[in-house]
Amino acid sequence: MSLTADVQAMLPDLDGYAYFQTSGFSPKLNPVVDEVVHWLKFQSRGPALPFVNRRIEELKRDIRGKVARTVNATPEEIVMTENTTIGINIVANGIDWKPGDNVLLTNHEHPGNRLTWYNLTGRYDVELRFVPMYNDLGRTLEEMDRLIDGRTRLVSVSHVSRRTGLRLPGREVCDLAHGKDTPVLFDGAQSFGAIPIDVRALDCDFYSFCGHKYTMAPQGTGGLFIRRDRIDWLKPSWIGSHSQKSFDQDGHMDLHDEARRFEFATRSVPDQAGFGKSLDIWEGLGWEAIFAGIAAYTDRMKAALLEIPELVLETPSSYDDSSGIVTFHVPGLEAGPLSESLQQHEKVLVSPLEFAAESTRVSTHVFNSDEDLERLTRGIRRVLNE
Ligand SMILES: Cc1ncc(COP(=O)(O)O)c(C=O)c1O
Repeated sequence: MSLTADVQAMLPDLDGYAYFQTSGFSPKLNPVVDEVVHWLKFQSRGPALPFVNRRIEELKRDIRGKVARTVNATPEEIVMTENTTIGINIVANGIDWKPGDNVLLTNHEHPGNRLTWYNLTGRYDVELRFVPMYNDLGRTLEEMDRLIDGRTRLVSVSHVSRRTGLRLPGREVCDLAHGKDTPVLFDGAQSFGAIPIDVRALDCDFYSFCGHKYTMAPQGTGGLFIRRDRIDWLKPSWIGSHSQKSFDQDGHMDLHDEARRFEFATRSVPDQAGFGKSLDIWEGLGWEAIFAGIAAYTDRMKAALLEIPELVLETPSSYDDSSGIVTFHVPGLEAGPLSESLQQHEKVLVSPLEFAAESTRVSTHVFNSDEDLERLTRGIRRVLNE
């Protein structure tokens, strides 16, 4: 069987929809859902039963290891989170801000890597700087270089843009920022599971990601990589039971040395088990094959869309500068009504972008078929001829 057929065989019933919304939320594979149910039932026998407790602790260790391996980190550098935004908040609220400090974002950031920082401006008198994302990456890097100064405490940017799928040259961003003593946080919501991530090769300080998009893990799963030497640098703003090695009754505590000090209290283990299962599935199918499959499909989609007269691709044409997101517009055609019409007539799910009335985002994955793509282009042509 082909990779696409292998993955399709694990999909739930999509009710006939061509699902191009993985960048928002992916459907979940049947074995992942079964794993969640299995662990929910097992844990529900009684989390305090010794054999349940022991097995759950082993499972949590296993999953942390899998997540670490996926981004080439060590388990000690991974915080298990519930989404990308929590990881960003751990960093944002963990910096010892001084009035007049600034943070560098791009103009493509999601509210998760935006509101977190907006929130700091009033509290600590922190300035926000926005670098424009040009498809000409040399120009984007030049702008970054111009905007980072001695008061820039962090560069916090999406590795892959949620708007156009533009892929930043991660290592170059880190080299540039580190050359000015500025650490780098990548928002990896759109890159994790879609393109290879190697935090060592990137040399980033922080990398935050979620399970629920390209790895097709349950909603409410994610992780934050904190490079070993940055763990103590961050001040924990939220901690609690499980963050500590020890504490006494007089106000003293000794936190874990590892990044897991930022995890606390009771978490959903079944969801994490589903996350671990989804990573097993992708690893079993072969990450290289997955990345190559998304790339090949995305290239086919770009070529098919470009055959439509007047359609403008906003995503870079080179896959090396992009990812499994294709954003386009047709001048004069509103994206909201287009997406509604595609949904109604062709059962195609795409998403109109906010703050850009004509831009439509299509996200691809290896489960999308050529027939899905044919329906998308047929639908756009139909709307244009109406
Ligand atoms: C680039 C980016 N960052 C952050 C988020 C928010 O993700 P989460 O819900 O995992 O916090 C998204 C979600 O679409 C995103 O695209």
